[in-house]
Amino acid sequence: MYLALFIASFLSYSDNWKHILTQNERGLIVTGNLFDIKIGYASFKNPIALASMAGITDSAFASGFANAGLLVLGGYNLDRETNEAARKETERNRSEFITDTPMELIKSELEKAKDIGTTIAINVRAATLEPFLEAANIAKEAGAILEINAHCRQPEMTSLGVGEALMKNLPRLGEYISRIKKTGVVLSVKVRANVVDDLELAKTIEGAGADIIHIDAMHPQGVDVGVIKRIRNSTRLFIIGNNSIVDFDSAKEMFSRGADMVSVARAVIKEPGIIDYLVDEISSVQALTGWYNAPKHICGGGDLRALAFCCPPVKPCAVHAALKQVGLMPQEFTNLKLGFSRGTAIESGEGTCFGSMAWCCKITKPCFLRDSVLERTKLSDVEYMIIKKKLSEHILKHRKKC
Ligand SMILES: Cc1cc2nc3c(=O)[nH]c(=O)nc-3n(C[C@H](O)[C@H](O)[C@H](O)COP(=O)(O)O)c2cc1C
Ligand code: SF4
Ligand code: SF4
Repeated sequence: MYLALFIASFLSYSDNWKHILTQNERGLIVTGNLFDIKIGYASFKNPIALASMAGITDSAFASGFANAGLLVLGGYNLDRETNEAARKETERNRSEFITDTPMELIKSELEKAKDIGTTIAINVRAATLEPFLEAANIAKEAGAILEINAHCRQPEMTSLGVGEALMKNLPRLGEYISRIKKTGVVLSVKVRANVVDDLELAKTIEGAGADIIHIDAMHPQGVDVGVIKRIRNSTRLFIIGNNSIVDFDSAKEMFSRGADMVSVARAVIKEPGIIDYLVDEISSVQALTGWYNAPKHICGGGDLRALAFCCPPVKPCAVHAALKQVGLMPQEFTNLKLGFSRGTAIESGEGTCFGSMAWCCKITKPCFLRDSVLERTKLSDVEYMIIKKKLSEHILKHRKKC
């Protein structure tokens, strides 16, 4: 049955392929429908986002980044209290969007942003639930995402119970999320790492029904990419990783630990071309490998999805701790891998380390043994990685511990 499913999916995949591959000016592969990333009514043409910067990222500014898969506008202040707090912030030279008519402002911004041609989110702050509900209805009507700002740490805001104060009051954050989700809006929650217990925070956000966690992986000593992995390993949330993405290496650090998307704020001011550059790079990775955010191997610090690349669990190595984490015995893991691979194109593997590509490494790890089997069986790198991705989903679907 698996064989039939794979053949069908590969045939449609190769058909799509012909429409996807074209060359841009820099000789890189650019895309039509290369990525298939969707959450409810929101879909993203690629996994690169512009993050919000109050007083800066309005529709006019964002229109310069139309190639991004997501543009987060705002943060907008939705009520009198937060607009007054923002006004006080401007007295100490912080930039803010201030208005007496917040709902009219977000309506008009969303209307203007429609012409940009990509998915839009609005990052918002409010002192009570009601303005969030009103904004959620406006966002949904415009096909946009609502993003609760639980990230702001300016004292004028936190003293109102706004921004970071929401992270420190999880029952309130959870209540806001579940009430806002009832509007049907696609909902993101912007948070900062290392302020509260990150896993408790992420699980609250997931349990209350939000769709996306947009996490600023800030750490007193730099960027905490490990927080992305911890959230990936413990929730099924769509993760937008953020903080100090200044080049493709920093973006890859987040993708390979489980970020579904990465966002950029300060770097776009210094180097406005960074969004187009990241879009080109990640599109090339997707075109060449079929799994743009594939994990590093478990022993290289990858998240649990990397069990798909693990060897048989017979020697002492990091796989045992990973299996403990998912509550699987070594034999159960072996059975899952072999059972899944049976009848698929990765079942074969004569001449590879363990006789089947079920146990083989990520395609970016050079290996002539695996590559000669791929060549012999006429399996492309992309097809190999798509099966590995499905294998990883299969393993994690059968995990016994979260
Ligand atoms: C000037 C400025 C204003 C910001 N305003 C907001 C905001 O309104 N809402 C929000 O969630 N994050 C805000 N942020 C945080 C950014 O979205 C981002 O999380 C942070 O700058 C780290 O990402 P970066 O390293 O790519 O800049 C702001 C950041 C800056 C520099
Ligand atoms: S099983 Fe292989 S790939 Fe997995 S952690 Fe151990 S050595 Fe690394
Ligand atoms: S044959 Fe190559 S790809 Fe396969 S497990 Fe051995 S080293 Fe990894």
